[in-house]
Amino acid sequence: PAFAAIVVAAGSGSRAGGAKQWRTLGGKPVVRWSVEALLKAGAEDVVVVIARGSEAEAQTALAGLSGWRLASGGAARADSVRNGLTALGGPADRPVLIHDAARPLLGAAIIRRLLEALAHADGALPVLPVTDSLRRATDGRLSGGVDRENLWRAQTPQAFRLQTIIDAYAAWPAGEAATDEAAVVERNGGGVVIIEGDARLMKLTIPEDFAMAEALIPRQTR
Ligand code: CTP
Ligand code: MG
Repeated sequence: PAFAAIVVAAGSGSRAGGAKQWRTLGGKPVVRWSVEALLKAGAEDVVVVIARGSEAEAQTALAGLSGWRLASGGAARADSVRNGLTALGGPADRPVLIHDAARPLLGAAIIRRLLEALAHADGALPVLPVTDSLRRATDGRLSGGVDRENLWRAQTPQAFRLQTIIDAYAAWPAGEAATDEAAVVERNGGGVVIIEGDARLMKLTIPEDFAMAEALIPRQTR
């Protein structure tokens, strides 16, 4: 089905030691991986949200691709998403995938599963099971266990219809930090479903993550 996408790339990458979205991973700028994957999967409009002053880096990173455009980011990730939604526009029922540029290894299967799930839900997100056992500790001392059975690690892209996510952000309490779009839609009464995520969709957060992601790049695309 027809869909649009927002790729948020307006962060400062402070934990990675600098703007990670323009760095090269497996021979390609980090942000380019996601934009290429979305365009290849049929995205008809991709809005890339960047910080002011990053236009030249973005143009260089995305040179030669068509079907994308730039929008300005905000102070927090949620502000960047909201700016992206405003820039995107389109019909209320338009499916929109909202994605972190910091998760470059996006595959076609995830996009397909998200769009399929959106046919019978208000939102969908990829998740991975928690495999480590979880412990709660207070002041350095164990203070009870945590059942990991119903816990999942959330990834992006997250899929919604345009008006669903716009309305949910409009209803979100001002000043409260939003974890992700799924949480915002769920809080507004939406039914959000999980789909099977992908280990390769790991987020580049700290410097060590680059080597790990590099090792996860499928052979044929290196
Ligand atoms: N992001 C954004 N606008 C912000 C903050 C974050 O568009 N104001 C984007 C980042 O560019 C990234 C994604 O949101 O693609 C996930 O955020 P994170 O991994 O935290 O990236 P940074 O905020 O850049 O890194 P850090 O928190 O270490 O500074
Ligand atoms: Mg951040």
